[in-house]
Amino acid sequence: MGPTVYVINGPNLNLLGSREPDTYGRATLADVEALCREACERHGFGLDFRQSNHEGDLVSWIQEAGASGAVGVVLNAAAYTHTSIALLDAVAAVAVPVIEVHITNVHAREPFRRTSYLSKAAKGVICGFGPLGYALAIAGLAGLQTQGDRS
Ligand code: DQA
Repeated sequence: MGPTVYVINGPNLNLLGSREPDTYGRATLADVEALCREACERHGFGLDFRQSNHEGDLVSWIQEAGASGAVGVVLNAAAYTHTSIALLDAVAAVAVPVIEVHITNVHAREPFRRTSYLSKAAKGVICGFGPLGYALAIAGLAGLQTQGDRS
């Protein structure tokens, strides 16, 4: 297993597949994990895939990813995206790139979803591609590594 990508999922994403399927689709979180594993294998990365409904877990895991020298973090913080200064501070605190992902196009939904605290510190943002967005984010981390991220 090569260097590791952390994929961190926030609240209610454990319910993917049955949660508001017209909005989030039928893929389960296990399906998303399988897709991430495939993408990581393609790029020679290991995968650490997690989900929590608790804000502090997400903060601790971002810190852990930073301390572990991970390739980067793919973060779907779900509703905490729109509320959490603690998560923003965690993303800003780590030296590894954090890619913010949303399954839905948050800009096409309720106005409160257009505000992301995380985007200020995220390396990049991907939304609206469904679960495919996670694989795109992993490909993005691989691309950053290959080009040598100088930003
Ligand atoms: C989400 C979008 C958020 O606004 C929402 O609270 C979620 C999921 C997405 O993946 O589209 O729980 O992050």
